[in-house]
Amino acid sequence: MPGSRTGVTVRVPAKINLELSVGGPRPDGFHELATVFHAVSLFDEVTAFPSDQVGVSVAGPQADLVPDDASNLAVRAALLLARHTGVTDGVHLHIRKGIPVAGGMAGGSADAAGALLACDALWRTGLSRDDLRVLAADLGSDVPFGLLGGTAIGTGRGERLTPALARGSFHWVVALSAGGLATPAVYREIDRLRAGRVLPEPRVSDRLMQALRSGDARALGAALSNDLQPAALSLDPHLDRTLAVGLDSGALGGLVSGSGPTVVFLVEGQEQALDLSVALAATGVAADVRRAHGPVPGAKVVDGSPVTRL
Ligand code: C5P
Repeated sequence: MPGSRTGVTVRVPAKINLELSVGGPRPDGFHELATVFHAVSLFDEVTAFPSDQVGVSVAGPQADLVPDDASNLAVRAALLLARHTGVTDGVHLHIRKGIPVAGGMAGGSADAAGALLACDALWRTGLSRDDLRVLAADLGSDVPFGLLGGTAIGTGRGERLTPALARGSFHWVVALSAGGLATPAVYREIDRLRAGRVLPEPRVSDRLMQALRSGDARALGAALSNDLQPAALSLDPHLDRTLAVGLDSGALGGLVSGSGPTVVFLVEGQEQALDLSVALAATGVAADVRRAHGPVPGAKVVDGSPVTRL
C-alpha cells in the first residue's frame, strides 16, 4: 500500500435483509426480489490512492479470502467508473475489512460502492449520486444499497430502491460462521427445493413495514423472514442450531442474513445484545460474534479530500 501518498477514505456499511421474498428464476438467470435492506454498523473502509495502475490490497481478519486481482469487485468498480468518465488515471485501492467475507452481508458489494465513491472523489469526476447508482447497479444487485444505506425496499433483482419509513434504532447480534456460502449456489438450491411449485409474486409484508414505521422491535422480530433461509440451512445444516440457540436465549427474532451463512438476531437493547453474545459464544455455535445497530447511513467519505495526507 502506498502509505505515504494522499488518498480518499470511504466507510461503507454491511446490510441485512429484514425480509427477502424471492420469485422464480428470470430468463437472465437472476431472481425477481422484493426485499427490505437494512444497513448495520459493521463497516469496510476503502481508501483510493493515486497510482499509475489499478490495483488493490486487502487488510483485516479474513483478508486472505478476498481476491487481490482484477476479479475484486472494487477494482471492477474503479475500472467501470474510469471507462464511463474517460479518466485515464490509475488508482490503488486499499480495503480494510470489517464486514464478514462471503457471509451474506454484501461485503463485496460494499467495497464496490466504496470504491465508486472514493474514486469519484479522488478523480473529481463530478458525477451525481444518481449517476453513481446507475453504475452501481451494473456491478451487482446489492451495490446501489451500499451507496444509499438506511432502510430501503429493493425490487427487481434488488437494485431498484425506495427508502423505507423507519423509526428509531434497532440492536443486532451477528453470529459469524467459519466458512462462507456462495450466493449463486444458494439461489440454485432454493430453485431445487421449490422445483415444480407455483411461486407467488415476491412482496414485502405490511406487517414488517408497520413494525418499521412504529419502531416496534418486538413486532419487527416477529416479522423477519427470508425465503433463502431453507436453502442456506440445506447447504449448511449447523445454522439451524445457531438459530435455535439465539431464539432460546432471548432474541426477539433471528434469521439467516441474505444468502448466509451469517445469522443475525434482533434484541431489545445493548444489555440484551451483550447477554446474547455471551450465550452464543458459550455454546460455541458461532465462529465469532459481533454487535451492531441499524439503520446507519450508506457509503460516506470519512477522510476528507484528495489533499488529505494519510
Ligand atoms: O448481483 P450479484 O452479482 O450480487 O449476484 C450474485 C449472484 O446471485 C448472481 O449471479 C445470481 O446467481 C444470484 N442472484 C440471483 N437473483 C438476484 C440476485 C442475485 O439469482 N436477485
